[in-house]
Amino acid sequence: PVEMREYLVNGELQPWKGPTQEVFSPVCARKADGPERARIGSFPLMTEADALAALEAAAAAYDNGRGEWPTMTVADRIAHIQRFAARMKERREEVVRLLMAEIGKTAGDAGKEFDRTVAYIAETVDALKELDRVSSRFVIEQGIIGQIRRAPLGVTLCMGPYNYPLNETFTTLIPALIMGNTVLLKPPRHGVLLFAPLLRAFRDCFPPGVVNTLFGSGRTITPPLMRTGRIDVLAFIGTSSAANSLQKEHPKPHRLRSVLGLEAKNPAIVLPDADLNVAVEECLAGSLTFNGQRCTAIKIVFVHESIADDFLALFSRTLAAIGIGLPWDPAVMITPLPEPGKTVYLAGLVDDAVRHGARVMNEGGGTVSGTYFHPALVYPVTPRMRLYTEEQFGPVVPVAPFSDTAEPIRYIEESDYGQQVSIFGRDPQLLATLIDPLVNQVSRVNINSQCQRGPDVFPFTGRKDSAVGTLSVSDALRAFSIRTLVAAKES
Ligand code: G3H
Repeated sequence: PVEMREYLVNGELQPWKGPTQEVFSPVCARKADGPERARIGSFPLMTEADALAALEAAAAAYDNGRGEWPTMTVADRIAHIQRFAARMKERREEVVRLLMAEIGKTAGDAGKEFDRTVAYIAETVDALKELDRVSSRFVIEQGIIGQIRRAPLGVTLCMGPYNYPLNETFTTLIPALIMGNTVLLKPPRHGVLLFAPLLRAFRDCFPPGVVNTLFGSGRTITPPLMRTGRIDVLAFIGTSSAANSLQKEHPKPHRLRSVLGLEAKNPAIVLPDADLNVAVEECLAGSLTFNGQRCTAIKIVFVHESIADDFLALFSRTLAAIGIGLPWDPAVMITPLPEPGKTVYLAGLVDDAVRHGARVMNEGGGTVSGTYFHPALVYPVTPRMRLYTEEQFGPVVPVAPFSDTAEPIRYIEESDYGQQVSIFGRDPQLLATLIDPLVNQVSRVNINSQCQRGPDVFPFTGRKDSAVGTLSVSDALRAFSIRTLVAAKES
């Protein structure tokens, strides 16, 4: 077990003697389909006072923009980040193992999450060098010589989600740091133990107070931080209701910069002339990778009625062949779910659809064994069912038939979300007529491929309740800084 008994504040690992929260793995130690969760560690349950002390440290390190970190040269800040990346790489094996144990991510996906995060750091460094080159240029406009610099914003509260506890937390942490902000880092409820092997690297690679960790219940420790009005940037990936309640705590919300990655209900649209093999393969991976627990997952599939039977038959056959089991088995795609109560929630969604006239199309779909939920292909899904609009964030694939493309387009226009869409079809002219209206509805239109965030250099954002700000490599540098003009009259 990983018993976390320290946290990082002001450059020092503080010993923790207070209450702790036990961590249970959804991955059963004894039997693959058993209900037991094995205890794999614990972490400190920090109090409001502990969190406020961490805020003091972050604010002192920023020192109203006068601190060592916000005034450091770009080259020096890059050197610190690179040193950290090198130390982080040494802990790959432990972090990957904890990703598997704590959130049930497959070995392949856990390894990818780690490697992608290391690559993200390197790409961020490259993007900053380029941004710095542009920012040091002088421009002359109407007799004014100007230099448009990038300056930090202040104290940043970084909070990532349980589905990508490393990658998405770092997606905010790294750009925030590299732009000169100081950070309070609050890992998600599930996916906290993997920060244990990184604590010393944070301590050794950054000046005191630049990175401070908060462990415990977000509900206890984050609202008091917001209420101080001293959080300058809220970088949060999770639900919009949690983001909203944090924002509301800030006494002067106009002074808060929010960078948010929120919910999505990304649809796929399968046109009558689609290559069915491609559509099924991409929709299956898009909806079931990491059990569908991705904000970018395909969460409803609109299939043209003329090909619905063929699509469903091929999807069911393919589904029957996928592996369900433990994360370290390379043949496995579906693994145990980390959130207690999630299987009950998903079963409720499927029951609701069945009560309103849908069927589970694959054998065994929707059954629960312990922490496993066997993926369910549900058809026909209609607006009366919760699955039509609710973000399931789990291994349920709702399929809705359509006769006219106006139907899925209207669905997207009326949706509260606006992250991505996937369109499957062969006729370039028909595809083109769909792309243009959809570009004004979502932030990424995928053609004959699944929805996804990567490659990470591409902009990652969303409209409506899906995002605020853009989290890609170079966009994120902008999100965590402000353009400041130094101007002088031409003599
Ligand atoms: O949950 C949202 C993640 O950023 C998804 O990233 O599409 O690469 O799995 P991904």
